[in-house]
Amino acid sequence: TFFPCSYTRVELTDFEGVSLVHFITDNWENIKNFKARPDDILIATHPKAGTTWVSYILDLLYFGNTSPERQTSLPIYLRVPFLEANFPETPSGEDLANKLATTPRIIKTHLPVQLVPKSFWEQNCRVVYVARNAKDSAVSYYHFDRMNMISAEPGDWNTYLQRFMDGKTMFGPWYNHVCGYWEKKQTYPNLHYMFFEDMVEDTGRQLEHLCSFLGLSTSTEERKRITKGVHFDAMKQNKMTNYSAVPVMDFKISPFMRKGKVGDWKNHFTVAQNEQFDKHYKEKMKSTTLQFRTQI
Ligand code: A3P
Repeated sequence: TFFPCSYTRVELTDFEGVSLVHFITDNWENIKNFKARPDDILIATHPKAGTTWVSYILDLLYFGNTSPERQTSLPIYLRVPFLEANFPETPSGEDLANKLATTPRIIKTHLPVQLVPKSFWEQNCRVVYVARNAKDSAVSYYHFDRMNMISAEPGDWNTYLQRFMDGKTMFGPWYNHVCGYWEKKQTYPNLHYMFFEDMVEDTGRQLEHLCSFLGLSTSTEERKRITKGVHFDAMKQNKMTNYSAVPVMDFKISPFMRKGKVGDWKNHFTVAQNEQFDKHYKEKMKSTTLQFRTQI
């Protein structure tokens, strides 16, 4: 496959204790000074927690019945801009967000809570945080970094898992990310904290919770329709949600819509890796009330 020469794997750099790439930090002043609007909805996640899933749900909730063209010709990453994205040959996320013609703006970020532009908090924007258990997040992220040619080189699984634990994967550490938003929720009521595992278990129920958080009176019929449309198989088939048009992703290595399961980590972790991971996890998560399910 041919990739323009600007699509090369880059090194991660430490930015205030967070692993980022220079594309993002180069544009930091613009990101930091981003002007949120009170009706903006921010979807925040550590990568691979179900960002695209929840993005599509919110898009359907707000715009599913507006223009048919939106659903058939506008990929999800253009409907829901990736705030801090600033990659070669594509418009930056803040640029896309500023040009969105529809309201509310639904914006996605992978930034840890302490790096979110302060305007979102000042404007009291609604924030939807999606969290996924660490083991499945690491596995999903590994396959993503293998196929996404502008990610830092993932290396082999064992090396990658160690890097994940060390907080040296992009937007990591995972531990601080999930705990940071969990703590924020205690003082910021406009934050809805949800779990990938609950979504897999009962998407319809999570959709109900979302509607109530967002103050939407979406009908039961409509919610049923959305639940069907956002099923893994439907999103995998849907060219607007499966990322198939992104040239830097090599689906021959791994598709973006890979498995969509809880517990795939069991197919990757060795017994030794699992023991080491659990021990480290316990230490890292010892002072939080946050609990995850690694199987359902
Ligand atoms: P897997 O790699 O485990 O399959 P993100 O959008 O945050 O990058 O997350 C991607 C992960 O969410 C992938 O996990 C992907 O398959 C999963 N995913 C996306 N849409 C989904 C859906 N409708 N149902 C279940 N999982 C979904």
